[in-house]
Amino acid sequence: MSMAGRFLGGAQDRLLPAAIPFRFFVTAAVFHLLAWMVLLLAADEVAGFRGGTGPVLAAIHLLTLGTLAMTAIGASLQLFPVVTRRALTRNWPGHFSYALMLPGVALLSWGMALHQTTAMQLGAGLTCCGLLVFVALTANNLRRASSIPVVAAHGWLALATLFVAALLGVLMIWGIELNILSNRSGLAITHLTLASYGFMGSLVLGLSLVLIPMFVLSRSLPPNPGWAQLGLTALALLVFSISFVSEFPGLIWLALIAGFGGTGFYLWQMAKILRSSMRKRLGLPFVLIRASWGFLILTLLLVTAYLAGLAIPNAVSLIGFVLLAGWLLTFLCGVLHRIMPFLASMHAAGKSGLPPLLSDLTAEGPLMLHAVCHFSAVTLCGIGIVADQSLLIRIGSALGVVGAAGFATFAIIVALKVRQGPRTS
Ligand code: HEM
Repeated sequence: MSMAGRFLGGAQDRLLPAAIPFRFFVTAAVFHLLAWMVLLLAADEVAGFRGGTGPVLAAIHLLTLGTLAMTAIGASLQLFPVVTRRALTRNWPGHFSYALMLPGVALLSWGMALHQTTAMQLGAGLTCCGLLVFVALTANNLRRASSIPVVAAHGWLALATLFVAALLGVLMIWGIELNILSNRSGLAITHLTLASYGFMGSLVLGLSLVLIPMFVLSRSLPPNPGWAQLGLTALALLVFSISFVSEFPGLIWLALIAGFGGTGFYLWQMAKILRSSMRKRLGLPFVLIRASWGFLILTLLLVTAYLAGLAIPNAVSLIGFVLLAGWLLTFLCGVLHRIMPFLASMHAAGKSGLPPLLSDLTAEGPLMLHAVCHFSAVTLCGIGIVADQSLLIRIGSALGVVGAAGFATFAIIVALKVRQGPRTS
């Protein structure tokens, strides 16, 4: 049976009210726009960013918490019940998590931009409560999982790394006032790694095992490569964190080898899925998804070159940018290009009994504008960071704003179509 058939069988009964995932997706699209706007305002500070509060850190968290985490929560709340074949029994926790995350992320980013510790503390408190509701809900769902254990196991790794990363984030905020942190940069790098490669990375690697075969209509994969990818990724994250917190840099090379191994298993599986795809024209979403795989490899190569002592100008800022805007944001936008119309069609089919055409539920123009501007923005900002040219970063961020506006238009159009329900005539 194809993965799509195994995955979607009975999915209709496990559909959450459309408001829950779509509210997360549309809010993520708005934070995405805000992230590029703040980056545009802070263009002079991007290339030289080496941590610390200010508009660049605010842009990072509008992107990571506001866009990536919000999307990941909306998608996971809907996808894990389908993966585990266990419907969520109550809807209020999803609404409650959203009600905490929205003001939390806004306040935290605001406080970071204006160096306001109280606003950061309040924002971090609300955000952590919102994340905790998501963690509890998903852990309860995964605990009863039976269907695809390798995907559920990636979910557990994502929850564990998110928990530690958020804890480190809160510690760094309170550390500003109490001045108790001796190894602040080590904690910041561990926080970044566990949050980006750990939480977001594990969700990307795990959910790809069901989403990509479903999108391209391919056969399901044997589970062992998925377990190998998970084991090596977990080892890489653990050893990397120990090496930074214990200030024992030699261990990093072991972490990198494990990281390359985990990535190698992931990309090998993705290539195998694309080769057995029954759908020949994969379209714009897969231009983004394939490009994101290239950015994933590029982040690991840049980290290796940097640790080997290669003189890459503004390496810290470049690696962070390629990791967040290159790999994670590009992958997430590619998946949302497909999953929002797909989810909308399942809700519409539920109302009319007939699945509408996906092309009726999307917005090709705004998506094409987004894709062209996104790739131009990532390229120009990347070159601007290496060449230490704020003007290039400014032009790139401005294109990022235009692309994000296109993406927000698409997200709002699809959400409105879901709300309107299927056309009667
Ligand atoms: C409740 C959640 C979070 C809080 C309270 C938080 C807090 C912080 C703080 C205080 C810093 C500044 C460290 C410094 O002084 O340099 C920071 C840095 C950073 N955070 Fe977060 N963060 C959170 C979630 C996340 C998530 C989910 C991601 C990614 C997916 C993320 C990515 C980053 C990155 C990339 C940096 C820059 C690292 C650096 O400063 O060198 N954060 N975070």
